[in-house]
Amino acid sequence: MKILAIESSCDEFSISIIDNGKVLTNIISSQIKQHEAFGGVVPELAARLHLESIDYTLLAALKESKLDINEIDYIAYTERPGLIGSLIIGKLVGESIAEYINKPLVALDHIEGHIFGANINNEFEYPVLAMVVSGGHTQIEMVYSPNDFEVIGATVDDAIGECYDKVARVLGFKYPGGPLIDKHALVGNKNAFNFTQPKNDGSYDFSYSGLKTNVINTIHNLKQNYKEIPINDICASFQFAATNIIEKKLQKAIEEFKPKTLTIAGGVSANSELREVIKLLGKKNNIKNTIIPEFQYCTDNAAMIAKLAYEKLK
Ligand code: KG4
Ligand code: ZN
Repeated sequence: MKILAIESSCDEFSISIIDNGKVLTNIISSQIKQHEAFGGVVPELAARLHLESIDYTLLAALKESKLDINEIDYIAYTERPGLIGSLIIGKLVGESIAEYINKPLVALDHIEGHIFGANINNEFEYPVLAMVVSGGHTQIEMVYSPNDFEVIGATVDDAIGECYDKVARVLGFKYPGGPLIDKHALVGNKNAFNFTQPKNDGSYDFSYSGLKTNVINTIHNLKQNYKEIPINDICASFQFAATNIIEKKLQKAIEEFKPKTLTIAGGVSANSELREVIKLLGKKNNIKNTIIPEFQYCTDNAAMIAKLAYEKLK
């Protein structure tokens, strides 16, 4: 079963082709450089740049997979959530190809796709407990089958990635600043600052706006008092607060839902501390199937959408 998938929900335009679950190609056209100057994604610009990426991304995917477009059995695309102008382009590309080769079109959810990014080259044993951490989402999901997802907790305000990027901007880092905070945190002291633990209330929901404000106010106060900004220590203390709450909530969820697989998904799953937290939780709770996704499948890509389509159709 050959599936061609399109992911265009934010600032990456990606086309992947997989054959019986095996990734043949995963071409990603990233726009980070173009959005950098604005300190974040500009939706109108993202949609316009997607339009420019369609032809060469599709041609590159077909070339790398050594397939003719008529050999594709299904087309899949990200239907939601995301930037509307960006999503429309993915939908139109999907519909056009499906119409042209007369094959079925499958509309999929971006978050479910992220979770199945961890399923590429790994087997899921159900039920799966998935921690979704991206620029737009922070949520815990239970996955009972590829067609049965339950959100047990979600962001009530800022998502974790958004919080990373906003703190990073105040520290003077380029967009997206998440990876840079991660890098500086590795050499900082996590106990240097005692930042707010977001929504430390026994629920499965997340809130990162209080932590964001706490860190940004601390930086401003240091600046106003002409003090040096201990960048590494701020990054390490912030990262500890941001990830420690995830560890606490996941521990509780593991005890309640008794998953057979533990995994993490979304752009922030590339974070070194979070990857360690998941490994540790898996070990502590004896969940043998603890899966840390490959870096290439953490941030937005079409292979995860293709894999989700494959598992659903199978
Ligand atoms: O999933 P994604 O590519 O796009 C959305 O669907 O939102 O996630 C992008 C987010 C950005 O906020 C970026 O800063 C964050 O993932 N990110 C990281 C790391 N790598 C990417 N955050 C923390 N540490 C990282 N290593
Ligand atoms: Zn995403």
